[in-house]
Amino acid sequence: MARDGATYVCQSCGASQGRWSGQCPACGTWNAMVEESGLRPPGALPASRPSRTRGLDFQGLSGEIRALPRIQTGIEEFDRVCGGGVARGSAILVGGDPGVGKSTLLMQAVAAAATRGANCAYISGEESVDQVRSRAQRMGLGAAPVQLAAETSLRNVLDGLKRSKFDLVVIDSIQTLWSDAHDAAPGSVTQVRAASAELVRLAKKEGVAVILVGHVTKEGAIAGPRVIEHLVDAVLTFEGERGYPFRVLRGVKNRFGATDEIGVFEMGDAGLREVANPSALFLDTSGERSAGAAVFAGIEGSRPVLVEFQALVAPSAYGTPRRAVVGWDSGRLAMVLAVLEARCGLSLGARDVYLNVAGGLRISEPAADLAAAAALASSALDVALPQDCVVFGEISLSGEIRAVSRTEARVREAAKLGFRQALGPRDIDAGALRLSGAARLADAVARIGEGGWT
Ligand code: TYD
Ligand code: MG
Repeated sequence: MARDGATYVCQSCGASQGRWSGQCPACGTWNAMVEESGLRPPGALPASRPSRTRGLDFQGLSGEIRALPRIQTGIEEFDRVCGGGVARGSAILVGGDPGVGKSTLLMQAVAAAATRGANCAYISGEESVDQVRSRAQRMGLGAAPVQLAAETSLRNVLDGLKRSKFDLVVIDSIQTLWSDAHDAAPGSVTQVRAASAELVRLAKKEGVAVILVGHVTKEGAIAGPRVIEHLVDAVLTFEGERGYPFRVLRGVKNRFGATDEIGVFEMGDAGLREVANPSALFLDTSGERSAGAAVFAGIEGSRPVLVEFQALVAPSAYGTPRRAVVGWDSGRLAMVLAVLEARCGLSLGARDVYLNVAGGLRISEPAADLAAAAALASSALDVALPQDCVVFGEISLSGEIRAVSRTEARVREAAKLGFRQALGPRDIDAGALRLSGAARLADAVARIGEGGWT
């Protein structure tokens, strides 16, 4: 029998029910149901004063469009991912693994915005004012007129923000805030949801842009649950592979801009440095390219980015061969391997296959299929691709190579970086590059096996 009033909330997806169970009935996660008392029904915000109702004021589609006022930080990579600056009165969630550099990035962003005249505050629930200040000074931001506070009480934060008219406020992090209206522990779904809802409401009402920092849990979701992603206007993730200095800010959801934008940064001694030309960073242009390497001419958001796909096909020491992939989708790798095996006569089934995207970038474009396939074929056949060749194209299950979007931008970027030829779909305009077009993957693999095509 359920105890009266007890509610069990899944810490992963936020689903709630009246009795405990080992597995969440909504998302299937085990051991995630935690009792949180004093809970309102899911989704319900704290009751507000009843207001007088009025009818809806319907408007036509063809009305005038007011430009959205935005706060520019001047950090180009950050502003672009936000959709051209942070929209006033919007709420943005910035998620990422602990230690990836979220606090560093946002301190730099508010300091830059404050230096340009915006009234900015940075509220930390994780570090003391002294710690935040010492970090800012180490990054050379000591002179920026940013208002600092260390606070974890939601009530105090809301009161403080209502009293001072800020343009932009960073809350670092949403998991540290707690509301005394709820019994649940800080960081629990109930608290995170309540604090986010209140802060989003404040953003809309007072016209202040609020940036919430959220730690990603081990399952990869922000704040454990997806419960606040729908509350905010934009969700950005800050990612980077351990051991690499590169960090990528990526738009996942954005009501005020495109979602496929990325901003690239490099972590140094004095904080994050913008990387305006990521291709040069992700690509090792010195020295010979060895067998198993293929340079992919990709597009990330609005920008072309060249990255190297590295593959190793090796004899397997075990009965079940290993498949390991970093920076690309493992399902996609399985598909490309199957097509190479079935349509191109490459026997890979009994061999270990490793695929790595150099530099720690994650590639999700289908246009990378051919680059992955070329790297794999190059390693399997032990023949290097020409040094000055870029690769792009989507591969279908029948083994055909399909044209991809934005060929012109890909080709232009490759030519700019000194590439002279492209391996890609047939019948495309390769501009300044000499095109080695192939209709089928089998043709491309045969050409790689012949040892270049210059
Ligand atoms: P931080 O911004 O605290 O990460 P998060 O808020 O996402 O948890 O950054 C932590 C890491 O960044 C830490 O390991 C040290 C490194 N770092 C630098 O390398 N250079 C710097 O100038 C700063 C401020 C941090
Ligand atoms: Mg931090």
